[in-house]
Amino acid sequence: MNKKEAKQKIESLSIELREHNHKYYVEDNPTISDYEFDMMLKELQELEERYPEFADSNSPTKRVGGEVTKNFETVKHKYPMLSLSNSYSREELVDFDDRVQKLAGKKVEYTCELKYDGVAIGISYKNGRLERAVTRGDGTQGDDITTNVKTIRSVPLQLKGDYPDEFEIRGEIFYPLSVFRALNEKREEAGEDRLANPRNAASGTLKMQDSAVVAERKLDCYLYYVLGEELPYDGHLENLKAAASWGFKAPSEEKKLIRTAKNIDEIFDFIDYWDEERSALNFEIDGIVIKVNDYDLQEELGYTAKSPRWAIAYKFKAEQVETKLNKITYQVGRTGAITPVANLEPILLAGTTVKRASLHNADQIAKLDIREGDTVQVEKGGEIIPKIVGVNLDLRPDDSQPTQYATHCPECETKLIRLEGEAQHYCPNAWGCPPQIKGKMAHFISRKAMDIEGLGEETVEQLYEAGLIKSIADIYTLKKEELLPLERMAEKSVNNLLEGVEKSKQVPFPKVLFAIGIRYVGETVAKKLAKHFKSMEAIRAASFEELVAVDEIGDKIAESILHFFEEERNRELVNRLADIGLQMEISAEEDTSKSSKLEGLTFVVSGVFEKFSRKELKQAIEDHGGKNVGSISGKTDYLIAGDKMGPAKKEKAEKMGVKLITENDFSEMINSQAETQGRLF
Ligand code: IVH
Repeated sequence: MNKKEAKQKIESLSIELREHNHKYYVEDNPTISDYEFDMMLKELQELEERYPEFADSNSPTKRVGGEVTKNFETVKHKYPMLSLSNSYSREELVDFDDRVQKLAGKKVEYTCELKYDGVAIGISYKNGRLERAVTRGDGTQGDDITTNVKTIRSVPLQLKGDYPDEFEIRGEIFYPLSVFRALNEKREEAGEDRLANPRNAASGTLKMQDSAVVAERKLDCYLYYVLGEELPYDGHLENLKAAASWGFKAPSEEKKLIRTAKNIDEIFDFIDYWDEERSALNFEIDGIVIKVNDYDLQEELGYTAKSPRWAIAYKFKAEQVETKLNKITYQVGRTGAITPVANLEPILLAGTTVKRASLHNADQIAKLDIREGDTVQVEKGGEIIPKIVGVNLDLRPDDSQPTQYATHCPECETKLIRLEGEAQHYCPNAWGCPPQIKGKMAHFISRKAMDIEGLGEETVEQLYEAGLIKSIADIYTLKKEELLPLERMAEKSVNNLLEGVEKSKQVPFPKVLFAIGIRYVGETVAKKLAKHFKSMEAIRAASFEELVAVDEIGDKIAESILHFFEEERNRELVNRLADIGLQMEISAEEDTSKSSKLEGLTFVVSGVFEKFSRKELKQAIEDHGGKNVGSISGKTDYLIAGDKMGPAKKEKAEKMGVKLITENDFSEMINSQAETQGRLF
């Protein structure tokens, strides 16, 4: 392939991939398989690596993120980001309609749409390319989170069709509920607290420094407001429809996410419909927004200091019911964390029967003074598990007693502890408390950890009860003769189990590290640690300072790791697993980040980069045998130049004959034969 052909191929692949991306993430109607998509993406990645001069910063390959932003820049909004005035009753909507009609002097057309409960974003486009994405902030200025927003697949990086040269589009970024649930499950697996609700979770994710992590998080975005000087139509809905044709995920009439209303009754119809149907949506809404459609009339109605007079939000009441709290019980998790649970008189709430609600922790119970026998208000809000929001004191029985929080583990009677600064109580008997032992084993064998075929959670329970396994390592000494007499253990299932156990010895080191169940070391953290330290031995020997020096590893995780290895029994367990033959080091294939390709070469890294942080680039130089220096001299071989590099540096480099290269060139240098993924690590 010559250069011209490569350029053409890069362009055609980009167009095709963009189209399939749109079909998948915006229309929810893919026409090719994930595999075919991945193959095309890989082809594009390879071409872009080979011909970095044709690689576009908005290419479909850039969805994986990579750039790390330490501090998000504050940017002033071109158009202030206002809020909406809220209403909670139908009367207020009637008043709103009256006011608007009076001023208009005629019948007014409204649009009704959903009020998405997420994080507001303003995205500007220039000549069809995504330029900048800024949070609401204080309404006048917000944070530039472009790198993170670019990873959201339903946000187009390059538009199609007949779009204006310059405009801004506003919308709401959110976690689909299915993704949010999965995220919480993953956190629970890592022994981390569950995130309270999807909106806060989305907000937290968008402020993460590493866009590659954001890219994995599967955020979504609905766009609901177009602003600009050259919009094609004079009405809100028409422009939104146009935006959909440029590639945006805008609410569609077809899915009933938006409609026009010619009178107040049609507005009420929309409200009634969604009040009923909202529980079926895969995202959270907290109300309905009613907007005057016509731009001229919008202008005439104008604005108050905070919100437009041409729009109003109608907020749904969170569904709430009262029921009796029969008993407070306590659950013990795999890490020993105690969760108090309210066992309720079963009651119907938002379409499901609720029997239990989480009480979070001791402080929460004390704050609301929740007691057994109370009649409590239960609400289904952002959280998936219903919560108790209050107590009906009028119905409190005369003999009611304040709740005494559990002092001992309900399972093993050990005295509970509560660490300073933590909300949760813990059962410290990690090695003797049955749910903790079983929980650790279940985690160890789970799909994302050792993935032991033929061994499920129920079997683990059975083997534990039968006294065959007391610790994780015992799984590897199970014998056929011990298993056969057990219930539901036929010859075939026993063989399967033993084969699965044997096979798991080949499971790569990062998964082993995740599987041993160090608190706060989830899948992603385990991968980072494995990549950095390369072996269990090195992690075990690492100091606090060495641990926190790793990207994304904070004080809490570092302390937890140190604490884990301080415990004699944990060290013994890890030794036993190593003796059994589990993978305790990263394999040569996984460890792509080392070579001697750059031996004898000296580099200066300067400026701001798209794909990698400066720290990552410097690390990569060292890993491949090169040397980093701070300033350019006659001995410097290469200057890796990013954005915002001072002109003086460039001049000096040119004068001294130092070669200027981009991060892509560098990536190519070290990845040449070794890798095809376009990533350093
Ligand atoms: S229009 C000038 N439409 O609600 C009017 N906002 O309190 C701009 N929101 O900051 C907003 N869904 O984050 C509009 N369909 C929708 C919306 C919506 C959610 C959010 C938005 C805004 C807040 C207003």
